Amino acid sequence: MHLTNEQQGMLQGNEGQAMALAMQTLVKVGKAFGAERLVAIKSAHLAGSFGSSRFKAYLHILDQFVAEGIRVRVPTTVNPRPGRTLGLLNRIVFSRQPWLERQLAQLGVTPNYSCICYDDVNIPALGDRLCWSESSAVQFANSALGARCNRNSVLVDICSAVTGYTPEFGYLMDENRRGQVLVKLQLDRMDPSALGYVLGRRLVNRVPVVEHYDFSRAELKNMGAAMAATGAVSLFHVEGLTPEAPDLQTVFDGEPQDVITIHQADLDSMHESQPQDYDAVVFGCPHLFYEEVIELAEQFAGCRVTKPTYLCTSPAILQRLQAEGMSNVLHQAGVNVVDFCPVAAFTPKRRSRVLTASGKCHCYLHNSEFGMMEACLRVCGART
Ligand code: F3S
Repeated sequence: MHLTNEQQGMLQGNEGQAMALAMQTLVKVGKAFGAERLVAIKSAHLAGSFGSSRFKAYLHILDQFVAEGIRVRVPTTVNPRPGRTLGLLNRIVFSRQPWLERQLAQLGVTPNYSCICYDDVNIPALGDRLCWSESSAVQFANSALGARCNRNSVLVDICSAVTGYTPEFGYLMDENRRGQVLVKLQLDRMDPSALGYVLGRRLVNRVPVVEHYDFSRAELKNMGAAMAATGAVSLFHVEGLTPEAPDLQTVFDGEPQDVITIHQADLDSMHESQPQDYDAVVFGCPHLFYEEVIELAEQFAGCRVTKPTYLCTSPAILQRLQAEGMSNVLHQAGVNVVDFCPVAAFTPKRRSRVLTASGKCHCYLHNSEFGMMEACLRVCGART
């Protein structure tokens, strides 16, 4: 692999042992994937936001960086907190949270604590190279914004954050960003989260091009996150909507490898069939955009929920809602507006049955059921 003088110096330890280790890691990853060089990145986003001693290697690496006074070289954001205050078990499992947050602060990581970093403090432009490790954020950056990012592990991501480089391969290359599978839709009712869930399972890691549908920004987020959870899809296009798919000819650069059709029955098969006695209803995985919270708030205005109901959004949006008095409206309806990651928050409560409209949350959260938005609102007692 070709390295610049600066990169070679880092590798040889000119900037300390921890930096040399970071550079060695990137070079090894690059060689494994056939990269010919390391390229500069615009930003990093770390999925390592849960302070649990189970993540020994990550905590150890952070420790080494901090001990050598290293700071991130590119703007670096971080995923949501794990909902440590939700119960005694959570406080025990995530007992390293305060320590982790101190380490991240010392490294110079922006304390946004949200998986929708691209909504405010870490907004990539078309063509920007990134090293992010949150799969839903990688998906949104690649697909909706046209930035270039592989789906990295947090151990690689942190090395890129401190060096400012990533190996050039995969979705950083033009030839890997073209569409592979054309997805036709035969649907009466669109449910982007369910569609993403089904597509991830069917396509695994191929690049789909969904025929034109006027998805909103939030729908692209929710569909992409589900696709990246049930499969390893890290880039999708929507004909005539996403930046690299102005038309089918351009995005495929020839014929698609495959054509599939998604029918209404495919999506309907995902929805909860038997009404059950749920312990909680969860919205927001990925974190809800401001406009999604406002839309949901209209459904809750003047109601009182009958089940514990959680709206998960970023700390920045939560602050805005508090400043505008909107969180009070939701509070009066009995709704909890929170800024943690629901998947981490509910995991230890093995017996909790959670209903969610998020395909990603359903995929990762033990004992959860997937419901259409209307069903979730009905179950928690909102006006529908
Ligand atoms: Fe975000 Fe946690 Fe879901 S990080 S995408 S809310 S699993």
